[in-house]
Amino acid sequence: MNGTALITGASSGLGSEFARQLDGRVDHFILVARRGEKLQALAASLSTPSTIIEQDLSLADAPETLCERIEALGLIVDVLINNAGIAGPDLLSVTEFSEQRTFEQLMMKTVAELCSRLIPQMQSRGMGWVINVASVAGRFPSSDSGNYGPAKAYVIALSEELNLAVKNNGVKVTALCPGFTHTEFHAVAGLMDAKTNSPSWIWYDASTVVREGLAACDKGRSVIISGRLYRWLDPFLRSRLLRDTLLRLVGRR
Ligand SMILES: NC(=O)c1ccc[n+]([C@@H]2O[C@H](COP(=O)([O-])OP(=O)(O)OC[C@H]3O[C@@H](n4cnc5c(N)ncnc54)[C@H](OP(=O)(O)O)[C@@H]3O)[C@@H](O)[C@H]2O)c1
Repeated sequence: MNGTALITGASSGLGSEFARQLDGRVDHFILVARRGEKLQALAASLSTPSTIIEQDLSLADAPETLCERIEALGLIVDVLINNAGIAGPDLLSVTEFSEQRTFEQLMMKTVAELCSRLIPQMQSRGMGWVINVASVAGRFPSSDSGNYGPAKAYVIALSEELNLAVKNNGVKVTALCPGFTHTEFHAVAGLMDAKTNSPSWIWYDASTVVREGLAACDKGRSVIISGRLYRWLDPFLRSRLLRDTLLRLVGRR
């Protein structure tokens, strides 16, 4: 791997970890998020030169603005890590519908438009890596009435489609599906009580998730479920029959 890596949501969690694990393996980073000071601190800790772009990716014109800035800098993206994300509002109780719209922009439309704008350039050069950070939550329906799982299901489907479309052009596209991972995600979502009350063995470190994601993309896999626990659970979660059986066994509907 070499060239320029664009990482969205690089100011914390999995995004920062992607930068740490790709440090020295690429020639240049483009680190994107809203909190510039966090990006500056990350860049200062890396040996690979970085360009920092403060950008709110939940705005409809964000992908266009971002790609124009990258082009103006004379940079070409060889590695795209679509990672920025939030938990988002409850679909049935949200009252600020603009919150729902910006969630959908950040989680789906921005991801798709960055793929749409940057993958054709990779195809024409005959090389490229794309990792779209999805979630185990996108593998099965839940009764949460949130839009998080459905949004991640879209990211998985998009990645599988794109993987098939471009794998013969030397471009690899992978949906990385983490389970519960230690990052800022749950604090930002106001879910720290739920995190504290959950068993420690369901939680993985960001380093494991990112290492498995990079290895899967290297192999050209379209989807990787990260973590041995979640890989074991995946067939149960995917099959309604097995899911119901598992829930009955653990005493839950
Ligand atoms: N942690 C988990 O348990 C878990 C499980 C499955 C999947 N995931 C997925 O993993 C990805 C990374 O999340 P994380 O766990 O690393 O959480 P995190 O530590 O909270 O990081 C989220 C990143 O997304 C950025 N971001 C959020 N809203 C943004 C916006 N409007 N514009 C630009 N950047 C934005 C944040 O940067 P700024 O705030 O500086 O903008 C931050 O860098 C997400 O897609 C998430 O859905 C996480």
